Amino acid sequence: MASAAALPRTPASSAGANADRKTQRVRVLVRPRPVDASEVSALTPECPPDARAALTLEPAQKNVNVRVKRDPRHAHGKVDAGEERWAFKFDGVFAPDATQEDVFEGSVPPLLDGVLHGYNGTIFAYGQTGAGKTFTMMGKPGNADPHTRGLAARSITALFRAVESAADAVYTIRMSYLEIYKEQCYDLLSTDAESDGQTASSKRRAKAGNNHGGSDDDEDEPDEIDRAAMERDISSRNRPRSTSKQMLRSSFQFATHAQEGTTLLGLSRRTVRSEEEALTCLFEGDMNRAIASHELNYSSTRSHCIVTLWVERRFSEAESETGIMRERVTSAKLHLVDLAGSERVLKTNSLGSVLQEAKAINKSLSFLEQVVVALGDKRREHIPYRQSLLTHFLQDSLGGNCKSLLIACVWPAVSHAEQTLATLKFATRMMRVKNVPVRNNMGSDLEGPNGAGAKVVQAYKDEIRMLREELALRDAFYEVSNYQHAPFSKEAISTFRNDVAQFMKHGDAHKLGIQGRRVRVPDHDRASMMDKRVRMEMDAAEREKLFATFKMDGKVGAPLFSALEDAKRGLVEMKARSRTIKEHVKAAKASLDESLQRVHAEEGAPSHELIETLRAQKAEYRLQTDALKEVKSEIAFATQAVKSCRQRAACAFEEWLIPSA
Ligand SMILES: Nc1ncnc2c1ncn2[C@@H]1O[C@H](COP(=O)(O)OP(=O)(O)O)[C@@H](O)[C@H]1O
Ligand SMILES: [Mg+2]
Repeated sequence: MASAAALPRTPASSAGANADRKTQRVRVLVRPRPVDASEVSALTPECPPDARAALTLEPAQKNVNVRVKRDPRHAHGKVDAGEERWAFKFDGVFAPDATQEDVFEGSVPPLLDGVLHGYNGTIFAYGQTGAGKTFTMMGKPGNADPHTRGLAARSITALFRAVESAADAVYTIRMSYLEIYKEQCYDLLSTDAESDGQTASSKRRAKAGNNHGGSDDDEDEPDEIDRAAMERDISSRNRPRSTSKQMLRSSFQFATHAQEGTTLLGLSRRTVRSEEEALTCLFEGDMNRAIASHELNYSSTRSHCIVTLWVERRFSEAESETGIMRERVTSAKLHLVDLAGSERVLKTNSLGSVLQEAKAINKSLSFLEQVVVALGDKRREHIPYRQSLLTHFLQDSLGGNCKSLLIACVWPAVSHAEQTLATLKFATRMMRVKNVPVRNNMGSDLEGPNGAGAKVVQAYKDEIRMLREELALRDAFYEVSNYQHAPFSKEAISTFRNDVAQFMKHGDAHKLGIQGRRVRVPDHDRASMMDKRVRMEMDAAEREKLFATFKMDGKVGAPLFSALEDAKRGLVEMKARSRTIKEHVKAAKASLDESLQRVHAEEGAPSHELIETLRAQKAEYRLQTDALKEVKSEIAFATQAVKSCRQRAACAFEEWLIPSA
């Protein structure tokens, strides 16, 4: 294993069910991406002394050393100022050839364990563009190879496996997928109605629901699935997904729920009942992310994306004093955050919308940093979470009620030494942040005998005080003095009610006299956006002909179809493997049963030989069933990936049609 030995495997007990109110530091792991052979010298201690920069990774010691030579003209006469040497120590350093599985095993299990017991968890991927953040979090979008599955898909698999084997609790799992671009929120799982009254996602969900109960029992060959689905996608004039407009959440209203923490009002939270359903949501979100970036014309590396798994657990527990069993509910969430590229865009090189975009990223990442610094400063009482959408959404994931992990993605090539240094410095600052994980209890705690309800009320009071302070700060900042933040009077509330009734009747927003509070209206200027939803008016035969040409198009269609073919082949192989493993499971079970019958048939104690045989057979049976579980989840992933590849091809075809029409 490339790096596993070097990584700290946090024992479940230190971060999971038994973790109490102990302060925990944000853990930081460094993941370098593989580099070209020409850049490898940068990774070795034998790096030529005259190299402009050198980076040494020491996974076993969890160290990263960086040496950067400065231009002597900027040395300002200092003897050693021509060279900077930095030595960093982290909680773990992966080797550049660490697999996705290594990274998952070395990072997520303690957080998942915590989430299953009511503790929030957050994993950030931070780093410059191209350093592997999306690869780490989401895998390779459009790639069906299960080995490339990112932390999100692997977390889903692990979560459902844990939930399915839990006998003492009932879990409800929901999922959201949020994108933040230029301080606008996009709900990547939006189910806003499409033209035919049924949403694409609900159609897909319905389909997933039909297959529910084990994808590998579904012996449909992927070719069959594809032909039917592709025909539907191609022949239907409806594009099989939402538009960025439907995904846009224009009101940025946050709510702080006593148990669930910070939530964004209106953000879709889909209930997912199986691994397949959750993977469908993940692929749908990935697809919508690609669509939003295409329609708004930005690179997806310029936005922040947050996949959240919300986990509610219901279980019975005996009261310590009376011994009476009571139902308890805990609720927690796991955020998987793929941050925008951390590189600073030079203002001089950027114009117009690119500059606006760069400013938004710079701002939100510096606000993130400000929050981090404020959290590290014990004397600071006020943490400015609400300065940006990102920090506000992650409020309870940066400090507060959360276990946080930062994966600092670096590109260990000489040419990226400056960016790597910046990432490692940020990661070091992040390590100072301390969180106090608190289990989120719901239900019985409110009526509990220990005054727990009072604690909740106190938490609300603190929250209100903090909000007032923050509003006052904002007003001071914007030099506005005539806003009142005290509770509204009964008369004022009655006036608002009338205004709202008027608004509902006449629909005139200006009639809404919400005095004293600003209503934030996002910039909806979409004039520069091309309307990509042009419907092609042509007959089916014409489309078929064009489709055949598209498939041969070496630039667009051919690579997509080649990826689709690869994905389908992979799926067929996996299904064949699954059938073989099923045979092995059956054979192992039969031998085990036979030996067990012999044990029962034998008079007296079973022989030593028989016991040894039983032990070996049990181990073999477990090995085969584990292999079957693994291949089943690979099939679930690959099935969704094939659908996603097919959809990408269908969308690309629609795009391709526009210029050719
Ligand atoms: N650890 C890795 N192993 C293999 N390929 C990687 C790895 N990290 C990144 N890549 C590849 O490098 C490219 C850039 O990675 P990406 O995740 O998109 O970067 P980022 O999201 O940080 O901008 C992608 O093609 C990705 O597949
Ligand atoms: Mg990315």
